[in-house]
Amino acid sequence: MKENQYDLVAPFYDALAKLIFGEKLLKAQMHYLGEMKSSDRVLVVGGGTGRILKHPAFLHAKCIDYVELSAKMILEAQENAGNLQNVRFLEIDFFQHHGEYDFIICNFFLDCFNEHYLDLAIRKLHGLLSQNGTLLVTDFKPSSNRKNKLIVSLMIIFFRLTTRLQAPKLQDIPQALRALFSPVQRASFNNGLVFSSLLKPNP
Ligand SMILES: C[S@@+](CC[C@H](N)C(=O)[O-])C[C@H]1O[C@@H](n2cnc3c(N)ncnc32)[C@H](O)[C@@H]1O
Repeated sequence: MKENQYDLVAPFYDALAKLIFGEKLLKAQMHYLGEMKSSDRVLVVGGGTGRILKHPAFLHAKCIDYVELSAKMILEAQENAGNLQNVRFLEIDFFQHHGEYDFIICNFFLDCFNEHYLDLAIRKLHGLLSQNGTLLVTDFKPSSNRKNKLIVSLMIIFFRLTTRLQAPKLQDIPQALRALFSPVQRASFNNGLVFSSLLKPNP
């Protein structure tokens, strides 16, 4: 049975996120998008419904590859892309994707994986990024706050039931990234539940 299948939730994914978090998750995802340069070859990994594509930074990117496993998510993202001419939607498994990119966006994607696949995904991201490229990761992080812990537990139960989420628990993503990347900027949101980080690959 395949894991991380988001087709079922695609039609109401944004509404659900908005119900629980308002626009805070979107705000966190947009926080560093202005760092994208107009000459950048951009990769969006597991971009979901693609609401971030409305950010003006994408208009000027050299090219954008939007890699997403769910066909239904891609349909939503195509709508959100509006008239963007420089984007290529690729309905594929990120682990099978090849290329070289200057700016990779990986938002609420790494939380889909168990510890083993999280390490593989981080290695894959390192391989796809150019030598002086930038990785943007926005995601949840483990928190000692009781309310945050409850929210994370409920989300994991919900997504394990609806998408066959692979992750049995929330991994320490910032810590796992340190194996191959160094953070250069980092911001925290929602009482420390969400982080957004710009990272450079370790040599
Ligand atoms: C939790 S959602 C996040 C969506 C979006 N980035 C956001 O923040 O709203 C994770 C997304 O990753 C996609 N995904 C999961 N595994 C994938 C894989 N191996 N390759 C490509 N996309 C994948 C899912 O289809 C889903 O759209």
